[in-house]
Amino acid sequence: MQQEIGALFGSLIVLFYILTVLNFLVKWINKKYGPSMKSNEKGYARYKRFMRFIIKNHKLFGLLTIVFLLVHFFIQFNIYGLSITGLVAAGILILQILLGIYGAKTKNKGKTWLTIHRSIAVLLFVAILIHTI
Ligand code: HEM
Ligand code: HEM
Repeated sequence: MQQEIGALFGSLIVLFYILTVLNFLVKWINKKYGPSMKSNEKGYARYKRFMRFIIKNHKLFGLLTIVFLLVHFFIQFNIYGLSITGLVAAGILILQILLGIYGAKTKNKGKTWLTIHRSIAVLLFVAILIHTI
C-alpha cells in the first residue's frame, strides 16, 4: 500500500511537470498554427480557452509539484532510504521553482531569465527520465 502511494505521488510530480511545460507548448502551437486554426472558429475558441487555462495556472502547477515531491520523498525515504537520482531530480526541481518565483516577482527580467528557466525545464526532464527508468 505504502509503495503504491509513493508511486502515485511520484507520478503526480510528473503529471504536474507536464502541465508546467505545456505553458511553452500551447504558446508555440498558437504561434505556428494559430492562423490556420482560426478557420475553425469554435475549435480555435476552445483551444484559446485551454491555452489561457494553462498559462494562468502555470505558477500554481509549478508550486504544487513541491507538495507532491515532499510526500513522495517522505514515503520513498521511509521504505527505500535515499535515492541519488531522486535527489538530483528534486534539486533541479527546487532550483526551477525558486527561479520561477524570482521571475514572477521581477518586472524586467529580460530574455536571459526565460532562456535559463526553459533550459532547466529540459534538464529536469532528463533528470526525471534517469530517475524513473
Ligand atoms: C522531481 C523529483 C522526483 C520525481 C518526478 C519522482 C518520480 C518518481 C516516479 C514516477 C517513480 C516511479 C514509481 C513507480 O512506478 O514505481 C519514482 C520512484 C522512486 N522514487 Fe522518485 N521522484 C522524485 C524524487 C525522488 C526523491 C527526492 C527520492 C528520495 C528518496 C525518490 C525516491 C524514489 C524511489 C526510491 C523510487 C523507487 C521505488 C520503487 O523501486 O518502486 N524520488 N519516483
Ligand atoms: C516544474 C516547475 C516549472 C517548470 C518545468 C516551468 C517551466 C516553464 C517553461 C518551459 C516556461 C516557458 C514558457 C514560454 O516559453 O513562454 C515557463 C515560463 C514561466 N514560468 Fe515556469 N516552470 C516551472 C515553475 C514555475 C513557478 C513555480 C513559477 C512562479 C511561481 C514560474 C514562473 C514562470 C514565469 C513568470 C514564466 C514566464 C512566462 C509566463 O508567465 O507564462 N514557473 N516556465
